[in-house]
Amino acid sequence: QAIHLKDYHAPDYKVFEIALDFVLDPAATRVGARLRMARTGAEDAPLVLNGEALKLVSVALDGKLLAKDEYSVDAEHLTIPNLPEKFVLDIVTEIAPEQNTLLSGLYTSKGMFCTQCEAEGFRRITYFLDRPDVLAVYTTRIEADRKLYPVLLSNGNLITKGDLPGGRHFAVWRDPFPKPCYLFALVAGDLGRIEDEFVTMSGRKVDLKIFVEHGNENKALYAMDSLKRAMKWDEEAYGREYDLDIFMIVAVSAFNFGAMENKGLNIFNDKVLLASPETATDDDYGRIEGVVAHEYFHNWSGDRITCRDWFQLSLKEGFTVFRDQGFSADMRSHAVKRIEEVRALRLRQFQEDAGPLAHPVQPQSYISIDNFYTATIYEKGAELIGMLKTLVGDETYRKATDLYFARHDGQAATVEDWVRCFEEASGRDLSQFRLWYAQAGTPVVGAKGLYDKSTKTYTLSLAQTLRPTPGQPEKKPMHIPVRLGFIGKSGASLPLTLEGENATGPEERVLELTEASQNFVFVGVEEEPILSLGRGFSAPAVFAVDHSPADRTTLMAHDPDSFNRWEAGQTAARAAMMAMMQGASPDPLYVAALGPVLDKAMEDMAFAANMLSLPLESEIAMAMPVVDPDAIHAARMGLVKTVAAAHRAKFAELYAALGEDGPFSPEAKAAGKRALRNACLRYLTAEDDEAAATLAHRHYLSATNMTDMIAGLAALTRMSSAKKDEAFTHFHDRFAKDALVLDKWMGLQAGSPRADTVVRVRALMEHAAFDIKNPNRVRALVGAFSANQLRFHAADGSGYALVGDVVRKLDGINAQVAARMAGAFETWRRFDPARQALIRAELEKTLAISGISSNLFEVMSKTLA
Ligand code: ARG
Ligand code: ZN
Repeated sequence: QAIHLKDYHAPDYKVFEIALDFVLDPAATRVGARLRMARTGAEDAPLVLNGEALKLVSVALDGKLLAKDEYSVDAEHLTIPNLPEKFVLDIVTEIAPEQNTLLSGLYTSKGMFCTQCEAEGFRRITYFLDRPDVLAVYTTRIEADRKLYPVLLSNGNLITKGDLPGGRHFAVWRDPFPKPCYLFALVAGDLGRIEDEFVTMSGRKVDLKIFVEHGNENKALYAMDSLKRAMKWDEEAYGREYDLDIFMIVAVSAFNFGAMENKGLNIFNDKVLLASPETATDDDYGRIEGVVAHEYFHNWSGDRITCRDWFQLSLKEGFTVFRDQGFSADMRSHAVKRIEEVRALRLRQFQEDAGPLAHPVQPQSYISIDNFYTATIYEKGAELIGMLKTLVGDETYRKATDLYFARHDGQAATVEDWVRCFEEASGRDLSQFRLWYAQAGTPVVGAKGLYDKSTKTYTLSLAQTLRPTPGQPEKKPMHIPVRLGFIGKSGASLPLTLEGENATGPEERVLELTEASQNFVFVGVEEEPILSLGRGFSAPAVFAVDHSPADRTTLMAHDPDSFNRWEAGQTAARAAMMAMMQGASPDPLYVAALGPVLDKAMEDMAFAANMLSLPLESEIAMAMPVVDPDAIHAARMGLVKTVAAAHRAKFAELYAALGEDGPFSPEAKAAGKRALRNACLRYLTAEDDEAAATLAHRHYLSATNMTDMIAGLAALTRMSSAKKDEAFTHFHDRFAKDALVLDKWMGLQAGSPRADTVVRVRALMEHAAFDIKNPNRVRALVGAFSANQLRFHAADGSGYALVGDVVRKLDGINAQVAARMAGAFETWRRFDPARQALIRAELEKTLAISGISSNLFEVMSKTLA
């Protein structure tokens, strides 16, 4: 049942136009589809339309109803043979949106209708050529009860609307831009709205509307502000102008992922749209800004130019992530943004690359495409674009993207089309670079330096290795941009002059590693340099340099590249914790090196907060041959306590100095201040005693925004004090009506290191606010629990059983989310035999269920393989 890229062939039929007619009813919605089509393939090729969970009412060809023997229907197709060259099909189907718990196709969420068609949801609305290379013009008529569904929306521009007898009304929308069906959207409901407008660079006025549940209008203001900034940014950074007269966003409560870029009508998970100071953290604000931009940017990278097939998914997703990252960096801080990106990449993508589900940025096959909306396709895909930009330079990068947008506008394109634009714009041969799309796995770039004092030469040997991944036993060397610099003992940067150059070189350069190993000889090097390698994280690789602890602290203090300053601190902390697990005491050099960080903390508060946060337990696990969750937890806690004790006065001083002043602002500077103060709180509450509990509790109670409230509660989750339950009850009662805030409340409890966490999570699954049918609730509780390395991997298997139980129950409700949750088991081979046996039992028990979804089957069978 696997689908292979090599089997791609162009469709046999094309659809010029589709007119849809919806008569909405939660239990039985009638969908009429009129398709104006033509044959483009062989004369005897039957028309095979996709369809799933549809009740077929009728099919007519050129106005004549077809008899039962003139077509055939099975669970997944409608097949019609003997068609003329050009024809019109009328298909009527019936669907039951309120029973659609998969949330793919047309479904209901809190009394409203909405759709999600990417990747293959449109076939759950009507029979169609559900593939991204079939582009058509859509007209959509929606008819519904006027009272229950006063708002009726679809893609494009509103053509007409009006009242109908019997308390009903209708609206007709038309989208003039040909699009694949995965970009279709429909919304109907009783919704509040906010409106604004944007004038494009050529002077066209665009109406902007965001629709939310009544009462949430003010919580959409930040999204609107983000949208306007994103529209402006895309004009300046990429020359992209918006094309319709109206742009709409709708927030829904039940949604399988973050958001969706339907043409002119983006649909959002309310979690990444709604914000107010009292209900959203600074991270939430940042995410909203980023996702609003991401979906908007898709209008060009995704909608105007779409993908030929789903193997090209990273063409739109990797590029669009890269675009939203650039936007967020410009809105906030480049240094901090880069750290956050790399931290997320290592946590999710490196993990994926190292495990049984590893796949290339351009996969060769899949069973369920839903399983390939991964960190590799998205985040590693974005890193590939970043490397291209590094290799060709900023100006040529813009030339290449201009060429791409001009040449492929209106097309369903491929990764190959994209790379070719870069080759043409730069005049460079990128054949080896293409391996980044084809080979899975994270390369390790090792470096060894040899300094010759007498000749003042420094020979840098770089070597790359790439371990086999499933289905790819042999790997070829990749084209890796390595940004680097040299630091002297005093902390000053040294010039990098390559052998053969007659002028003194710059203080930073990018080497291109293309062989398995390569030497680079630098001359005129006045002292033995400390190597600062992989600056700005110039490739999605592991840069392995054997620095001494003293070199690391020099880099932490003096590297002009802020990313590598942070990186040196993380590496030092990780090394310290690894040594502690072998019985060493906390590295005094590292602990001392945080002194200057604290002294300079006020200069860049957000950056300082990052310098102060230790690698997560799961990041430390990545560095261990056999993961020992208990030892990691103990080592990390030990290091936190040591740092806390060593710098107590400074933490207390900063904490006091950084209190909230003036009204709340979500902007980077104010958020950075909160981040630094909360980092101090983390160390001031390192011990599990009443003094710490009192401080955390006071922090929580005096907070005027959600970021600070969460920081106080997070500290309490580690504690045995009665103040913990007091605060959690208080928080619960205060936000009892706000599902998104209760998600945070659940997530914090699920992330607690305390021994009763599994029991608490089981109890929370019975809480009135928990609803297994809403993916946000499942992710908040169960997703947070499986990210809790200590408790999910409890030696008695209780954590595995919990997640296994949820996955099995969820599979019958929402297979996409079930498969996602099952990803928690992907690291299992890296644990001890006893834990492996427990996980294997969960996987086998699940795979033995008859009727398991293909989504879950794919994830679990590949995990086990
Ligand atoms: N295209 C959407 C976005 O990244 C996500 C769609 C996810 N679809 C899925 N089947 N997982 O903006
Ligand atoms: Zn996207």
